[in-house]
Amino acid sequence: MSDLRQEIGNRRTFAIISHPDAGKTTITEKFLLYGGAIQEAGMVKGKKNSRHAVSDWMEIEKQRGISVTSSVLQFRYGDKCINILDTPGHQDFSEDTYRTLMAADSAVMVIDASKGVEAQTRKLFKVCAMRGVPIFTFINKMDRDSRDPYELLEEIENELGIGTFAVNWPIGSGKEFKGVYDRMDDEVIAFEGVDARHEVAATHLKFGSDELKDLLTEQQYSTLSDDIELLSGAGDEFDLDAVHHGKLSPVFFGSALTNFGVEPFLKKFLVMTPPPTARQADVGEIDPFEDHFSAFVFKIQANMNKAHRDRIAFMRICSGKFERGKDVWHVQGGRKMQLAQPQQLMAQDRSIVDEAYAGDIIGVFDPGIFSIGDTVCDPARKCTFSGIPTFAPELFARVRQKDTLKRKQFVKGVEQIAQEGAIQIFREPASGMEEVIVGVVGQLQFEVLEYRLKNEYNVEVIREMLPYEHLRWIENIDLDTFDYHKLTLTSDTKVVQDMRGNYLLLFTSPWNISWATDHNEGLELAEFSENA
Ligand code: G4P
Repeated sequence: MSDLRQEIGNRRTFAIISHPDAGKTTITEKFLLYGGAIQEAGMVKGKKNSRHAVSDWMEIEKQRGISVTSSVLQFRYGDKCINILDTPGHQDFSEDTYRTLMAADSAVMVIDASKGVEAQTRKLFKVCAMRGVPIFTFINKMDRDSRDPYELLEEIENELGIGTFAVNWPIGSGKEFKGVYDRMDDEVIAFEGVDARHEVAATHLKFGSDELKDLLTEQQYSTLSDDIELLSGAGDEFDLDAVHHGKLSPVFFGSALTNFGVEPFLKKFLVMTPPPTARQADVGEIDPFEDHFSAFVFKIQANMNKAHRDRIAFMRICSGKFERGKDVWHVQGGRKMQLAQPQQLMAQDRSIVDEAYAGDIIGVFDPGIFSIGDTVCDPARKCTFSGIPTFAPELFARVRQKDTLKRKQFVKGVEQIAQEGAIQIFREPASGMEEVIVGVVGQLQFEVLEYRLKNEYNVEVIREMLPYEHLRWIENIDLDTFDYHKLTLTSDTKVVQDMRGNYLLLFTSPWNISWATDHNEGLELAEFSENA
């Protein structure tokens, strides 16, 4: 096998998603420990954001820090090169998560065994489902009293509309947690923890063995034997193809904190999760194993280091090999260039990379030329990847600078922050940039915007909340000839334009949306746009 094929074939790139507090950080940390990438737990920065007061600026900065410094972690485990994409837990940053998922080949969904499917799990899952991303479920915190495992699986199936296949099955929970039965290897991995704060040793016992009978109470033994029978009787075959199409989620039970079941999960997961998958481009599917380099930008982060005012564009390599110093073609910029200061991140450390392969994520210095969704590729084989959908924001405010002399900084600030995808900006047709309409998914984004404008651009702003809750792009129109005055709309519907000139409508209620389509023949409205 050629080096290229081997390097790419050994890559596994996935995102970890969860409702805050389900245990995402703890699991990530355990993965890094197994891979030898960190020496002790507690080294992965970034936790605890949901509980802090929204107005706590330091925490907002910290929240940014999390999604930045630990956004991509690369480490080796066995012969695999693993790229973990971290996703911010707070729901106000779910757009960031959406984009991150675009760069992943699969997702690990961490669920708290006592809580089951939570609001944020539902939201994130929807995005994975949209792309048919394979989803692996880790039901965490089995060392605490958990809900009935059958009930948990049923909830995942019903609420998320995906099939489940329990790869292992828990024996009790909380104080009574005795371990898991591995259905594939037909053995029990016994949990012998006493102190929940420490790592526990696990022993492997065959079902039916005396050791296992000694370990379990009679009641537990007979429940386990019934469960095994019931599960195999249910007849759900493990279907890897269904897993790869996001139709079936392999489910694992364990306890990240006590280090139980995490490494067995990682081992099986790495076998089941696909190597870099093909991506859709204008010239057809791009095979990751082909020689030509190609990548797309899924995240931009400005001012990561305030002293340097730098801006980093994160790209997912989709095919071939990246070599430092080699020319690449930036499709949207329409020019040849070299990617400056390409780097990979490992926890808080950044290091310059000389080469990287399909599946890898690299951050490059961005002098302000990249936008989210941009393609860079080998000049010898040009292609353009499908854009990253922009989701409709749900909160809107009119924002303008307090001091009119600061107009330039204001415009630069909102434009740059919008380019990062941290907010969406609109303006009223035929108006300038003295004020903008800002759309966000979560309230916290407004506060980050104000904080960043003040700290990074030295502009104070006035924000006036608007009553709109729904936004739709007007589709299939000719921007040069379109006359929005001709639309028949309710008085509380507003016409705006995005920065590319596309027209949009802001509505206060779903009723108004139907009203608009009912009263304007041929009007086509889209909930998200790939061209925005
Ligand atoms: P998140 O990234 O998904 O937000 O969750 P995180 O890993 O930070 O875990 C949230 C809390 O749940 C932490 O406790 C963590 O120690 C705990 N936790 C994670 N996995 C398990 C588990 O398997 N069992 C138990 N019992 N607890 C678990 P904390 O008290 O909020 O923080 P800390 O003081 O432990 O750092």
